[in-house]
Amino acid sequence: MRANLHWYILTLILAVGCTQLPESRSVENFNSNWSFLLENEDNTSFNKIDESNWRKLNLPHDWSIEGDFNENHPATYNGGALPGGIGWYKKTFKVDESDNQKEFYIDFDGVYMNSEVWINNHYLGKRPNGYIGFRYDLTPYINFGEKENEIKVKVDNSQQPNSRWYSGSGIYRNVWLVKTDKLHINNWGTFVTTPIITTNSATVNIETSIINNYKEAKEVLLKTTVLFNNKKISENSNNLTINNENEFTFSETLKVDNPKLWSIKSPHLYTLLSEIYIKNELVDTYKTSFGIRSFKFDLEKGFLLNNKSVKIKGVCNHHDLGALGTAINTRALERQLELLKEMGVNGIRTSHNPPAPELLDLCDKMGFIVMDESFDVWNNTKATFDYAIEWNEWHKKDLEDFIKRDRNHPSIFIWSIGNEIQEQWNEQGVKTAKELKKIVRNLDTTRLITAGMNPPVNMENQDVTLQFDKANVNYNVLAASGVLDLVGYNYAHKTFEYHQQNFPKTPFIATETTSGLQTRGYYDQKSDTLKRWPIRWDIPFDGGNSNNTVSSYDQVSTPWGSTHEETWKIIKKHDYLSGMFIWTGFDYLGEPTPYVWPSRSSYFGVIDLAGFPKDVYYMYQSEWTDKPVLHIFPHWNWEIGKEVDIWAYYSQADEVELFLNEESLGIKKKEGDDLHIMWRIPFKPGSLKAISRKDGNEILVKEIKTAEKPSQIALNADRTIIKSDGVDLSFITVSVLDKNGTMVPNASNNIQFTIEGPGKIIGIDNGDPTSHASFKASDRKAFYGKCLVIVQSLEKEGTIKLTANSQGLKESTIKISVK
Ligand code: GAL
Repeated sequence: MRANLHWYILTLILAVGCTQLPESRSVENFNSNWSFLLENEDNTSFNKIDESNWRKLNLPHDWSIEGDFNENHPATYNGGALPGGIGWYKKTFKVDESDNQKEFYIDFDGVYMNSEVWINNHYLGKRPNGYIGFRYDLTPYINFGEKENEIKVKVDNSQQPNSRWYSGSGIYRNVWLVKTDKLHINNWGTFVTTPIITTNSATVNIETSIINNYKEAKEVLLKTTVLFNNKKISENSNNLTINNENEFTFSETLKVDNPKLWSIKSPHLYTLLSEIYIKNELVDTYKTSFGIRSFKFDLEKGFLLNNKSVKIKGVCNHHDLGALGTAINTRALERQLELLKEMGVNGIRTSHNPPAPELLDLCDKMGFIVMDESFDVWNNTKATFDYAIEWNEWHKKDLEDFIKRDRNHPSIFIWSIGNEIQEQWNEQGVKTAKELKKIVRNLDTTRLITAGMNPPVNMENQDVTLQFDKANVNYNVLAASGVLDLVGYNYAHKTFEYHQQNFPKTPFIATETTSGLQTRGYYDQKSDTLKRWPIRWDIPFDGGNSNNTVSSYDQVSTPWGSTHEETWKIIKKHDYLSGMFIWTGFDYLGEPTPYVWPSRSSYFGVIDLAGFPKDVYYMYQSEWTDKPVLHIFPHWNWEIGKEVDIWAYYSQADEVELFLNEESLGIKKKEGDDLHIMWRIPFKPGSLKAISRKDGNEILVKEIKTAEKPSQIALNADRTIIKSDGVDLSFITVSVLDKNGTMVPNASNNIQFTIEGPGKIIGIDNGDPTSHASFKASDRKAFYGKCLVIVQSLEKEGTIKLTANSQGLKESTIKISVK
């Protein structure tokens, strides 16, 4: 959510006492009532467009997700096999005559891609980068009074492939209309740092950029207040002269006594309130959320947050939200982060681009360590029409804006200037990295700079002693250059333990790891056969399973990666290995490694595309959280006599005993660095029960039963009360059960949904990477027993009733209150 919106709510409901709401600034959500037209021809003029075809919609909007899967779409299956094209958006609005001395700006949080914007037929500009936020000044072209204004946006995602993953298309992030006085704080106009922190006090350095668009110089009073839980903690006032038609940056220092530190467990946030007065009249207010924390990457101890060692247990994620495509929704993001928190994740890498601002706000609030990443390519291309085309003209501006936009977030600890950049193998990479580092340093000296690099010494994932010399064909020139503050490389877990020899002066981070592969709910026997799929990243794979599944035991990975256990075992062993970012937290659209079409989404996630955890989720939970875990799998529906491997992940216990139909199959314990235990037994129907014990006392019991045939449907909502704001969501898990209430693990019944009341179905999914059914349909097949319905509120109170029907199954209904 936007900083200033927060501020308005705050001022309205709370008595800060010293502040009032200036009529001169407003930040209006500008998402509603747009018209949209998908046009495949490159019409540069609106006049050529048939007016009757425009469709009304609210932003954020991703038109690709509405399309059909097809292998012939130019994005290819690696881009999600969905259509691109050219989209036009327009919106009309009126501006009050009384505001004719004010300034007006339009802020786009992100448009994919190549957007061009007009107001009242004046061209405002172009922004090729699909992930960065940008602003246009509308002031000179605004019609005041009764005459309408019209904003038009052209979005061109027709030149494909331009991405290695699903990008989405359209105005997929929020849009804001900002009104200010002629003298105001600039966009991203504050910068807060906390260079000195002791138990008793913290120094807060503040830079405030003020723009004066008046024709004359102005004497102003800048008042800055630090608030905690809406209470005033510290304040400062300064009289300043701001020259006409000028931008001026003012620096000051405040103190906070007994600071409440930001941490993963207690992510305390402070608020900086900046107010500007001209002759006692309040003309602007601006709110900045910040945190007080110290950190360090140590050569021996790894990552220290507030002087305490913290292992970074991170995931990489792309920006799509599964069935919702890339259209940003804060609740959908929050649900993802909640699931990751439950798993024990404490870090997020925004692979490989600037994320939605809402993601960073949530990471600040929920306590995640963020590696904020800017680019997947520099000058050398990876996909035919990617950002390399724009690099020379745009990279400086895009990188500067990225840092300015994000640098107040306490959750950000690392800037990544690129991912697996082609230039890393030569001197050009070092030159560019130096340039980018300088750009970043100019704007922020408080974080470390890294890049996700390919293995510095070998690409084959071998056990590498010191081969780190220039004669090595895979000598990573960028890694060796010393330009980066943190040496971050992707994969090559076998080289991690040689890091201190390879890079004695630079701390380590595993920027990207694992690339394990799994299909939720599907299991190959035997579970201890290790599979490295595909053979090589650039060789098409003709192996695997005929239905494009991958076993859900942690037994399959790419050859450049590892199983989940392999990498974590190494990272956990040494303090100097500060942490890792698993590829990936969630499955995402595109890049269906190891398969090609008909697969269209990834198998990498610890959690599937619909948000259902795969089994390995619980391995991490058992290792990364303090709570007792006992998870046994697979399901218990097999051919009689078939040998089945039963795995258990457990924690906070010394042993697990397994029973089949009440008969003990013995007690097992993890030995050495084991992360799971296993029994191999011939299948007999009935009940499989596991009991974990500590010092002889029962800790947890888990039971799985053989399911009979499908008989009923269960509906479970993550939230049964949602807001009547037309944005909020309820995620409803749909399970196919037998008559006894046991989930039927192989069920694939097609389920039809109907909805009544103040809500609508906006997405439907089952996590199947090979499905070509539309995410916008009202029916879905269960995939290994489950599917998901995403319901969105309308701007009306009442009760939503969602009903699920399927031939031969008992109907089921769930109610969601909208308030
Ligand atoms: C990495 C790359 C990721 C993804 C991953 C798949 O090399 O950085 O974007 O492609 O491989 O394993």
